[in-house]
Amino acid sequence: MKNTTSDIKHAASLLKSGELVAFPTETVYGLGGNALSDDAVAEIYAVKERPQFNPLIVHVRSIEDANHHAHCNTTARMLAHHFWPGPLTLVLLRRPECELSYLVSAGMDTVAVRVPAHPMAQALLHEAGIPIAAPSANRSGRISPTEASHVQEELGGRLAMILDGGPCHVGIESTVVDVTGETPIILRPGSISAKQIGDVLHCKIPLLPNLSSSSMRSPGQLASHYAPSHPVRLNATHAAADEALLAFGEHVPTGAAYTLNISKHGNLQEAAANLFRMLRALDTKDVRCIAVMPIPEDADTHALGIAINDRLKRAATPDTI
Ligand code: TXA
Ligand code: MG
Repeated sequence: MKNTTSDIKHAASLLKSGELVAFPTETVYGLGGNALSDDAVAEIYAVKERPQFNPLIVHVRSIEDANHHAHCNTTARMLAHHFWPGPLTLVLLRRPECELSYLVSAGMDTVAVRVPAHPMAQALLHEAGIPIAAPSANRSGRISPTEASHVQEELGGRLAMILDGGPCHVGIESTVVDVTGETPIILRPGSISAKQIGDVLHCKIPLLPNLSSSSMRSPGQLASHYAPSHPVRLNATHAAADEALLAFGEHVPTGAAYTLNISKHGNLQEAAANLFRMLRALDTKDVRCIAVMPIPEDADTHALGIAINDRLKRAATPDTI
């Protein structure tokens, strides 16, 4: 059941006293803690079992808040004015006087910041009046949660509270852009595309840096991520009787033990919103593997397909560390 104003007040006071609270954003659910407190941020890493080298996103109310903690250069301001509140994260240089825990930056001199659009996330930020560090509210390397029940199943016992704002309508995590250098670099593709960013900045943004260079700049971009417990087979054009099929579009092969269609009409927004929920649902089945149909990803017409395929490729990569 969705939470009320008094629940949000309670969640804000828990955050201020150093507890962890999961909350909805328009992308996925976040595992929130006070970004000013080393103890709270350390607890986020512990609960998620997240490697300490992988920095966290800090959620703030406004551009002014972001600029208080980090340098918002012209590029950052243009993007923030255009896309905030919304599913865009900016990697900025910390100010020398920045009070954010160094743990959110994993010891680097940068910090990733975003202003979420979800009304419950905004209400929580305003009520708490502190910056909220929040990675996706899943165990490290697993599928991101898009419903409160996903958080409950995975981390329930370890959190002071889970705010329920219903299903997340974007469904995949924010686009992460490093704007500290001369040219902005997309470290993680999301629903805001390279083309949209380039249009605002009047320049061409390289589509996707290769994985090895992006993983150096964004330590969280590991090849294996979003992993279900079953193996994942990509670009499936047929399905076997011992497979579960994650389908897309009208023409779906028959024969799988279970089939869920992320968008019967081939709509990528709908597909993104359903992706993690349906992947989770198929992962509960007793099958040999999860087969996934091809998702189109032309940069101009199917930009969201790039973000969806990024998640699927990582889901299909076996964990090697
Ligand atoms: O949509 C989202 O971004 C969600 C919601 C809850 O806001 N959050 C999210 O957080 O996806 P997380 O921690 O799961 O992913 C954060 C990504 C990671 O790939 C991390 O490496 C990168 O952002 N990141 C964070 N701080 C960074 C920094 N200072 N420099 C480079 N990359 C950074
Ligand atoms: Mg995550």
